[in-house]
Amino acid sequence: MSAREGESLLGEKAFYVTTPIYYVNDAPHIGHAYTTTAGDVLTRWHRQRGEKVWYLTGVDEHGTKVQRAAEAGGVTPQVVLETVDAANDDFIRTTDDRHVARVQKFWEKVRDNGFVYSAPYEGPYCVGCEEFKLPGDLVDGTGEYEGQQVCPVHSRPVEQLREDNWFFQLSAFADRLIEHYEAHPEAVRPQSAYNDVVAFLKQGLVDISMSRSSVDWGIPLPWDDTQVVYVWFDALLNYATATGYGSETGTDDAARYATTWPANVHLVGKDILRFHAVYWPAMLLAAGEPLPSQVFAHGWLLVGGEKMSKSKLTGIAPEDIIDHFGSDAFRYYFMRAISFGQDGSFSWEDMSARYTSELANGLGNLASRSTAMVGKYRDGALPEPGPLTAAEDAVVERLASATTSADAAMDELDFSTAIGEIRSVVELVNHYVTEVEPWVLAKDDANAERLDTVLYTMCEVLRAVAVLYNAVMPKTMASLWSQLGAGEALGALAAQRIADAGRWGELPPGSTITKGDALFPRLPDEPTES
Ligand code: MSP
Repeated sequence: MSAREGESLLGEKAFYVTTPIYYVNDAPHIGHAYTTTAGDVLTRWHRQRGEKVWYLTGVDEHGTKVQRAAEAGGVTPQVVLETVDAANDDFIRTTDDRHVARVQKFWEKVRDNGFVYSAPYEGPYCVGCEEFKLPGDLVDGTGEYEGQQVCPVHSRPVEQLREDNWFFQLSAFADRLIEHYEAHPEAVRPQSAYNDVVAFLKQGLVDISMSRSSVDWGIPLPWDDTQVVYVWFDALLNYATATGYGSETGTDDAARYATTWPANVHLVGKDILRFHAVYWPAMLLAAGEPLPSQVFAHGWLLVGGEKMSKSKLTGIAPEDIIDHFGSDAFRYYFMRAISFGQDGSFSWEDMSARYTSELANGLGNLASRSTAMVGKYRDGALPEPGPLTAAEDAVVERLASATTSADAAMDELDFSTAIGEIRSVVELVNHYVTEVEPWVLAKDDANAERLDTVLYTMCEVLRAVAVLYNAVMPKTMASLWSQLGAGEALGALAAQRIADAGRWGELPPGSTITKGDALFPRLPDEPTES
């Protein structure tokens, strides 16, 4: 994907959000879709705050695991990542020329600064994690691996690897990182992740090997072409190389880097927290670059209590869920049902139940009855409201306070609370409609002005909800926006500001209201769980 048209390279610093770059040795799975969705919701929300935003995702194409999968299965590493309607600004591959050249430049710089040296290394290595393990990281195997040490993430035995390679002097940075995190407690989130990182740093850091001679895929070290950069020390750099690290002064790429780096939020799964909150900032310090503002470690999606993963056959492809529920319901569910930062279980039953109660019977029902009633009672023209009563005042107030609370929750990446706030407005209005009974008011012309007020209230709240939910469900909210005839008077939905969402009276009377397709149609029969 390319840069947004007309966006200036210079000027204000962008709110820069990244996802991990995903291994391409397997089909993209739900864990990837989860992080990508979170980043997308976050960046859309910030765009609607009127901020300049840069959202990066991509793929990790180097390393042993990828190489073996390619050799074994003919899977090429150049597979396009399937997304969930992500409006990313850029997509990086670690085989991109821009990345390769800048990784070499970076390590050259770290070496010049005196933090790289040569030494032999031997240790247990997990191919699944692409990582040398410390003895304390391993667990005893069971079943066919009884008597062997296995990786706790992959439940497979580790391999013993010995080679001469280059070391990064990680040990030099423990104190500086502790100091940094003590001064910036928000730099690792949630709190449990922060505590883990600080405790790990306080044990002291040992130097770590940053190159390999045993693989032939990877980025050659500029000063030793018998070695390639170890995949993690190549991959982490994508966040900086993608936006132009190391570019010549005066070029567009240098300007891009100056207005994106440091990143505001690195979104990662908790299993790769240490790479992002220890190794990565140490690398940046070694090269003299500023540190990212925050690393946010989300939890794992579980099925039957186990981490969903292709290698353990508990992987459910995101497209299986999206085919059934639609991409917006997918985005809604994973942001709403699981508190970001915690583990969460997925089940078809839970997702179906929420789809029906929160989306179809909640927002979907409010939209269909509002548009239908304006059609039936006012020929599809939004009426001018009369004076508001206490019932409407309560709605207006809730809308304003929900907007403020949702906005504050988004600062904490607390998607679930933000969605809950918006949902509380929908609930209140559905309740309001049941109480005021517009269908009864419609029976007597003496109530015409009162009915106008009620119909206006219903549609005006939907206008605000479309603005607030746009980051979460962009397709469905675009449909609601058009059913409300809002585009003509107010312009594109994505251009609507969060701060103005709760302002009452934005949707002009006279707007053409059309009852369109159901926002959340009845679900097809459920796929059988296997
Ligand atoms: N290539 C590295 C990341 C390099 S970033 C510089 C990598 N790739 S991965 O494809 O194995 O995993 C990418 C992300 O998916 C990780 O953040 C991981 O936590 C996440 N998930 C994988 N399975 C997951 C779940 N079951 N649930 C949630 N996220 C999970 O690691």
